[in-house]
Amino acid sequence: MIYTVTLNPALDYALYLSDFRLGETNRTAREVLSFGGKGINVSAVLSALGEPTVALGFAAGPVGEMLKGMLKEAAIGEELVMLPVGNTRINVKIKAEAETELNAAGPLVDGGSLAKLFAQIKKIKAGDTLVLAGSVPPSLSRDIYGQMAEALPEDVRLVVDAEREPLLPALAYRPYLVKPNRAELSEIVGRSLLTDAEVAAAARELQAAGAKNVLVSLGADGALLLDETGALHRAPAARGRAVNTVGAGDAMVAGFLYGAGKGYAHALRMGIAAGGATAFGEGLADAARIYEVLQNL
Ligand SMILES: Nc1ncnc2c1ncn2[C@@H]1O[C@H](COP(=O)(O)OP(=O)(O)OP(=O)(O)O)[C@@H](O)[C@H]1O
Ligand SMILES: [Mg+2]
Repeated sequence: MIYTVTLNPALDYALYLSDFRLGETNRTAREVLSFGGKGINVSAVLSALGEPTVALGFAAGPVGEMLKGMLKEAAIGEELVMLPVGNTRINVKIKAEAETELNAAGPLVDGGSLAKLFAQIKKIKAGDTLVLAGSVPPSLSRDIYGQMAEALPEDVRLVVDAEREPLLPALAYRPYLVKPNRAELSEIVGRSLLTDAEVAAAARELQAAGAKNVLVSLGADGALLLDETGALHRAPAARGRAVNTVGAGDAMVAGFLYGAGKGYAHALRMGIAAGGATAFGEGLADAARIYEVLQNL
């Protein structure tokens, strides 16, 4: 079983209009409501591939109930803890000539609800996987991913896809996989990373700090994997026209984990296919889109 954690999930309300005027009444041409949040995205793509998954994290209020309903409808397993106060956030994406995002802060996580999430994490079985993905809301400790890694039973595979601050404390717990993109890795090591050699050297630093496998996603430049044996794999991206790259990294994590049973070269290919398939269409890729891209790699 692959568990994912999303501390501050959201509903995304995408409003499409030809002409957006600030300070005036605008009417949309169409609107799309979807669920969002990095761990939930990973669970969605795993689920599309037929891999058993449960999304953990927090939801709140009637919007949280709606999120749960949407996950149920998409047959994505979830055991989100309901917070006693507030509402799951709704992030508004204004899609006109330019894209404007309005991201809400989200509800406050109280101590009792946090304890419930930790109790769930402590019950994860050896051989299962836990994916910690995305940002940490301001009400929680910067070290929360380190604390979750600490609470994990032995032999649970830990995956962390997060920025420098929440990622670093988790490295001491020897995560099975970390997946920074170029900008995140650059921030972690504190220097710009232009060439493959520079990216590989930075990946080796993350490995020396505790990560077993380091998968660096490079957008349209593909990805570089430093596996636990110290071998480097470099894959170009799938060829195609990018429509929306949001969630491509999350899809890549899902594809990699899905493919990992058949070796790291295969895992990387599945990651590249899932990331590309997501970039080439609207929303997260489904299995049909992923296999089509895989066949053309
Ligand atoms: N324009 C693109 N063309 C082809 N493949 C792409 C493109 N953008 C992303 N991908 C694929 O998806 C993978 C992950 O993308 P990216 O590096 O943008 O992740 P990310 O920055 O973590 O994204 P996010 O956090 O929004 O999910 C890339 O390694 C690549 O294989
Ligand atoms: Mg990412």
